[in-house]
Parts: sequence; structure tokens; C-alpha cells
Amino acid sequence: MSSLTTALSKSAAHFARVSGKDLLARTEDYARWRAARLDAEVWPFSRVLQAAPGPTTVIRDETGREVEGLNFGSHDYLGLSYHPAIRAAAERALRDLGPHVSCSPILQGNTWLSRALEDAIAGLVGMEHVLLFPTGWGAGFGIITALVRPDDHIVMDRLAHASLQQGAQAATRNLHHHRHLDVDATEQLLRDLRAKDAEHAILVISEGLFSMDSDTPDLARLQRVCRAYDATLLVDVAHDLGPLGPGGTGQLGLQGVLADVDLVVGSMSKTFASNGGFLATRSAAVKQYVKAYGGPHIFSSGLSPVQAGVLVEAVRIVRDAEGEARRARVQAVAGALRAACEQRGLPCYGVPSPIVAIPVGSEKVARLAATRLFARGVFAHLVEFPAVPVGAARLRLLGMSEHTEAQARHAAEQVSASIAEARAEVEALQSAA
Ligand SMILES: Cc1ncc(COP(=O)(O)O)c(C=O)c1O
Repeated sequence: MSSLTTALSKSAAHFARVSGKDLLARTEDYARWRAARLDAEVWPFSRVLQAAPGPTTVIRDETGREVEGLNFGSHDYLGLSYHPAIRAAAERALRDLGPHVSCSPILQGNTWLSRALEDAIAGLVGMEHVLLFPTGWGAGFGIITALVRPDDHIVMDRLAHASLQQGAQAATRNLHHHRHLDVDATEQLLRDLRAKDAEHAILVISEGLFSMDSDTPDLARLQRVCRAYDATLLVDVAHDLGPLGPGGTGQLGLQGVLADVDLVVGSMSKTFASNGGFLATRSAAVKQYVKAYGGPHIFSSGLSPVQAGVLVEAVRIVRDAEGEARRARVQAVAGALRAACEQRGLPCYGVPSPIVAIPVGSEKVARLAATRLFARGVFAHLVEFPAVPVGAARLRLLGMSEHTEAQARHAAEQVSASIAEARAEVEALQSAA
């Protein structure tokens, strides 16, 4: 098998189930496969920014290639990470409180800025009680494992984020997946579960905007269905809170369920210019319970003052007129990108949002296309297993309010050329085999 053929075959799924008594040696097959991909220049992961991640940036890949290009690979949908007011907030926080809290929030790892952040998030999502986590990943995992016990049930969208899936697996053996976005299937599962088990709790888990597919469930109906079967709904709003909805309220605001969903989990690490996660709830008791039993809240250090200061300022911008203007711009950019892809015969997943994901299917084609696209100076994500199922590889581009529509159209042209080249290359390889 040629080294390119090796590099294009298999996926991370192939190496996920390892066995044998030597815990360390059994990592080596994966390492060899990754090295083959690196040699063949089809390993677009763990890239390193050489400049700030603005609409253009400079990136070095793991083979040492450095490219300056258009950045469609940052989740900074409203371009806040290089906003002057955000930078000033970071400097103020550093000056006033220093770089670090040196403690878990359950002890003394809070600052007046992290308290202000809880209030700011409470105002944004319309829920009184907010608890902070170091990351969105920690929030999802920590909330689920704090609340759900092994005899309880979890019903979840089969494409929900890894933080939610892994939290659910850690919390209970009674895990039930349903077809993506399918509220009828959720209702059927709840009906069946309640017919057998009136005793244990059921947590239903979904997302406001699925980031690999750019689509969204009917949240109002999902919440009604949960109430009808005494189940609790948790919605992760990592990608829609900020760039979508009136005042940045995301799908909760767009669908008229702000302050109505039982539990909201969020990541601040996309739109809000720093890292962080949160739980929002109407219940003071739920907040106190998750504070006591949510591992990543209690057993990790609190947000640094710089993170908290930046996030407070970012929420302020998101909620005001400037946020509205930036939301309109990112919608126009992503709309132009989506339209230009579709004009070139590349239909995109889901519905309009800052996320534009283009189905490719074959990992072989997607890997080669990602390499060609990088060389052409457009930075996008190659998405393959474990982020999506095997055989559902795609290229994903993220719009930013600071891109121009002309840049978006240029990116679509390069995506289309890269996929066409990659398909021709894979066909040539297959006919030579
Ligand atoms: C739905 C969802 N939840 C949580 C996370 C994790 O967020 P963070 O980067 O803050 O850990 C992500 C990020 O990829 C996400 O897409």
C-alpha cells in the first residue's frame, strides 16, 4: 500500500478499541497512522497560530508549512477577540486583580469580576441563577454528572456534543439516543420510559445550534414534551448564544423560550472572546447542588480575572446595538458563503447561521481537499470522526462579522476547486490500484 493510500484510509475510529496488557505500547498503531498522514500532508490538526486569529491570519501546520490566509476557522463569530474594548478590559483586569485566582471557586477562587460575569450571563439568558465552569466542556460534563444517577435515564440527540455524550455515559447506564432533531422520536422514548418507570428522573439533552450541521430542534415543543412526561430539558447553547437571536439570546430568544427551558448550559469560548462555561437555571437549589457536586466546578481553579473581565465586556457588547450590527454582518457574510457554495453545486448542511458545513462524505476526498484548501490560503476545518460519524466527513467554514462578502465568495471558489481536485486525485488513485 502506498504511503498516500495508508494516509487516506482508516479513521480515528479504527484505533479507538485497543487491547493488550501493555497500556503504553498499544498507542503505537495510532501514532504510526498519524505519522503516515503527516508525511502525506493530510493531517490538518493541531495547527499553530502565528498571528492573532482575525479575518486573516498566519498558521503553521505540523509539517512546518506556514501560510498566510483567510481565516474561516475561528469561532469568533462577532470578531470580539480583537475588539479594542475587549483588549482594554483584559488589561484592566490584569492590572486590578492579576493573572490568576490560584484556587477553586468553592474555596476562594472567585473575584468581583466572576460575580459580575454571573450577573451578566443571568441577564443575557433571563435566568436568575448562574454557575461558572472553567470551560463549556466542563460545564456540560459537570452538570450532567452532578444531577443524574445510575438508575435515572438520559434521552439525547445522537449528534449531541462530546461533552454531553461523555457526561451522559459517565452518569447512567440508561442512555437512549434518538434520531437527530426528532422530537416525535423523543416523545415516543419518553412515553415508553414512563410506561415502565415512573420512579426515576429523565434528563433530555439537546443543543440550540448543532455546530457540525448548523441545525436546531424545535425547542418550544421539546420543552412541552418534557413537561408532559415529567422529564427535565437541558439545552447547550454554545454556538447560538451571542451570534444569533434578539440581543444575542440565540435560539432560546428566536424560538420564544428564553427563561423557559429547564436548564441551559453554555460555552463562552466561541463568541465571547475567552474561555469559560456556565449553567443557568431558575432554581437556587439546582445551582447550589451543582456547585457542590459538579466536578469541574469544584475541583478546578476558577476563571482567571482576565478571562472574567473579558467575558463581562463581551456580554455587554453582545447585548447592545453594536452586537446587533455585528450579528447582521456575520449573517450577511455566512449567507454569501453559503450561496456561493450552493451556486457551485455544493449544498450546505442545515439552515443559515455563521456555521457553513459542506458535505463531502469520503474521508479520502475530504482530507485531500482540506490540504489543497490550506495551500490556497483558506483556513477551514476538516471534520471527520470522532466529531462526526465515519463516512460523513465535511469541510466546515465559520463566518466572522469582520469578513467581507467578497472574502466569503473567494473562499467558496477555493473550496469548490479543492474538492474537485481532491475527487479527481482519489479517482486516479483508485483506478491505479
Ligand atoms: C455544543 C458544545 N458544547 C460545549 C463545547 C465546549 O466548549 P469549550 O470550548 O468552552 O470547552 C463545544 C465546543 O466545541 C460545543 O460545540
